[in-house]
Amino acid sequence: MIKSILIIDFGSQYTHLIGRKIREQKLFCEIKPPSYLDNNKNLNHHSCLVLSGGPDSVLSKNSPSIKIDLKEINIPVLGICYGLQYISHKLGGKIIKKKSREYGKTKILKTTNNPLFIKTLKMQNVWMSHGDAIEKLPRNFKVIAKTKNGIPAAIFYKNIYAVQFHPEVTHTEFGVQILNNFLFKVCKFKKNWNQSNLNKNIKSYLKDNIKEKKPNIICAVSGGVDSTVLAFALSKHLHNNNIHFIFVNNGMLRKYDEENIKKIFKSFKLKLHVINAEKLFLKKLTNITDPETKRKIIGSLFIEVFNKYIKSLKNSRFYLSQGTLYTDIIESNSYHGGKSAIIKSHHNVGGLPKNIEFKILEPFKELFKDEVRKLGLFYKLNKEFILRHPFPGPGLGIRCIGKITKRRLDTLRDIDEIFINYLKENKLYHLSWQAFAVLLPVRSVGVMGDERTYEETCVLRCINSTDGMTANVSNIPIEILSEISTLIINKVDKVNKVLYDITSKPPSTIEWE
Ligand code: XMP
Repeated sequence: MIKSILIIDFGSQYTHLIGRKIREQKLFCEIKPPSYLDNNKNLNHHSCLVLSGGPDSVLSKNSPSIKIDLKEINIPVLGICYGLQYISHKLGGKIIKKKSREYGKTKILKTTNNPLFIKTLKMQNVWMSHGDAIEKLPRNFKVIAKTKNGIPAAIFYKNIYAVQFHPEVTHTEFGVQILNNFLFKVCKFKKNWNQSNLNKNIKSYLKDNIKEKKPNIICAVSGGVDSTVLAFALSKHLHNNNIHFIFVNNGMLRKYDEENIKKIFKSFKLKLHVINAEKLFLKKLTNITDPETKRKIIGSLFIEVFNKYIKSLKNSRFYLSQGTLYTDIIESNSYHGGKSAIIKSHHNVGGLPKNIEFKILEPFKELFKDEVRKLGLFYKLNKEFILRHPFPGPGLGIRCIGKITKRRLDTLRDIDEIFINYLKENKLYHLSWQAFAVLLPVRSVGVMGDERTYEETCVLRCINSTDGMTANVSNIPIEILSEISTLIINKVDKVNKVLYDITSKPPSTIEWE
């Protein structure tokens, strides 16, 4: 039996990224909550232990911990951020809350030649995301890298390595190299996990979760990549006429979303049920401005619409399949029972009401966006469609800040179309990971011709990312931005100001709500 790499999830937003980075190296790993190590036995199934980051401080009373004594572990251990602090704290070092925190991009300096830093520069950029730091090292431990303020950035002793920064996020310059050094130079692993297994994994997920021969399945299709690839995967693996592909027009779609999805399903030769629920959604969202309330209302209305559809079918048992990704789950709830802070209720997860009448199928819930894209390309789905930017479930509802009205949504649709078409026509679209417009309920005075205007503001957001977990702002030249701004102001009546959002994630999120 292959022993897997064990990642203990102390609740970091990035824990699954560690898992993915390891999977990309064709190694088998599992993510478990701290309670998994309540006894020593479970550790026998693993070849190495990674202790993830987390939002807690080891100094606080109920911070997460494992029952095993670290001194008794003889497989390689890697502590990341909270993991480093946990190791230091438990092995007799001292952790303190620093007054001047080192958040975000920071430079570190290698202080010795250690296998962890093979093929990395002496001075390198890393991504920090924690307020605590080591004041006194645990016994025998050595500092192998430090920050510019002299704080230990990486330490080691015998089989235990720990880093204060996050090697799993793309902003850490040599993050992949450092993780690979740990896996291949320290642990000396051989590759044993193959990415082309994605399709097989989906097939076995469906086999494990569906017991009936001809199950009734409702497949909610949003028009985006995830749910469309999912629809294709279901039809491929289940050969079943009882799959109902449903597309709900909630009034918060972009201009051509409905038309596009109809075309795609026609090309799959699959029947798509289109439900127009625009009026219902807009009515329930009248005067709602709080982002979480909007998300919850949109989520539960989707379910209400599905329930109504299901009742009309007069069948008693249903599965509801959703293209939920790991990122949706990790940022809504903690997936493996850890303690990730709740950032937003993503509609696929957070908005589901308690009296749900069907079983949920989420075959992509351990996958990242780019893995779903790979699957789509493996299924030979249209490349242009597969490489489309992500679009959130609650749609323009969470990009129309403040009150949601048909008029404001129409304005936003017009702006979005101009912006995206410009990027496509100028071959800029695929240079970024996601681009969209946001409408703000902020009015300012302008002048057009000889007329005074007093209209709302729109924001353009364009970011680079690999998985949506972290993001950098796309560096669009100011000349191009001002050309887009002119196009928008000239063509769209209800806005007179265009802004460009220059915030990365973190500290911001990609969407505004
Ligand atoms: P945030 O705003 O959380 O977004 O940084 C990360 C990525 O997730 C998308 N997103 C969603 N996708 N349902 C989805 O299917 C949602 O409720 C949702 N909210 C955000 C967002 O567009 C970005 O790509």
